[in-house]
Amino acid sequence: MKITSTPNGPNRVDPDEPVTLSAGEKEKTLASPFYLCRCGLSKNKPLCDGSHLAGKFEAPPSEIRPRNQ
Ligand code: FES
Repeated sequence: MKITSTPNGPNRVDPDEPVTLSAGEKEKTLASPFYLCRCGLSKNKPLCDGSHLAGKFEAPPSEIRPRNQ
């Protein structure tokens, strides 16, 4: 799995295998790249809904790697 923080936007997750997200009682399985909110403004958490654009969220890009890679 690779996680990349996009400039001024969400964390892009590129899973190696399907990932199941839980939010309250809802579950969603995602297999292709998806975007996790890191601005706190999304109305569809944990996923990004584009609200960071209106909120003028600012954060630098970065990459998160597991220790064994
Ligand atoms: S990062 Fe896009 S809505 Fe939060």
